[in-house]
Amino acid sequence: MIIEPFEFEMKDGRTALIRSPNYGDVPGLIEYLRVSAGETEFLIRYPEECGKYTEAAERAFVDRVNASGSEAMLTAIVEGRVVGTCQVLWSGSIKTRHRAQVAIAILRDCWGQGLGRRLMLELIRIAEENEDIIQMELDFVEGNSRARALYESLGFRITGVKPNAIRLKDGTLLNEYSMVKVLRPGAGTGER
Ligand SMILES: CC(C)(COP(=O)(O)OP(=O)(O)OC[C@H]1O[C@@H](n2cnc3c(N)ncnc32)[C@H](O)[C@@H]1OP(=O)(O)O)[C@@H](O)C(=O)NCCC(=O)NCCS
Repeated sequence: MIIEPFEFEMKDGRTALIRSPNYGDVPGLIEYLRVSAGETEFLIRYPEECGKYTEAAERAFVDRVNASGSEAMLTAIVEGRVVGTCQVLWSGSIKTRHRAQVAIAILRDCWGQGLGRRLMLELIRIAEENEDIIQMELDFVEGNSRARALYESLGFRITGVKPNAIRLKDGTLLNEYSMVKVLRPGAGTGER
């Protein structure tokens, strides 16, 4: 899915260009994936696991996501550098196409600038345009208070916990929390 490009002025005055990715972004995307993996423990990958993100693989990824009718990826570019991406996707399966999955990561240099909020608002807008979707879903790792605060302020609520879902190199075990944001009131609370 291709998204109409737009600009966002961050709190520090820098401008982020937000748009669907293209082939020209591929080297920047690979660098962003590697750098972001080393800046936080709250992403699922370590930098040395980023070798699979080759130029060919990323081009294929860009093609797939842009052509998809059930997936959108936004790339945030600040001063010519890819500083963040986010995705929303849903399945085509009859039993699960009412659920949209969300993921986001921004480089540390741009944390706390309002960019995460702006990107998430765009993902919510995209999901809301699809009448089939009644809820948005995401996961975050224990201790990620910045992400949690952002998600809660946007109406996501914790619905579950997967104990010890993440094990860091030093052996630290962390829980993973699931969150849901209900888009269509009356769609149910999930309680039985
Ligand atoms: C989580 C992340 C996407 C948030 O994006 P961001 O651009 O930093 O967030 P924003 O600046 O838009 O807003 C964050 C909100 O949390 C609040 N916040 C900031 N730092 C915080 C902290 N340490 N603890 C709690 N809340 C915090 C801010 O006040 C802000 O709320 P506000 O808009 O009401 O002021 C970003 O920090 C990131 O990519 N982190 C690394 C990767 C990651 O954790 N991805 C999410 C995986 S689930």
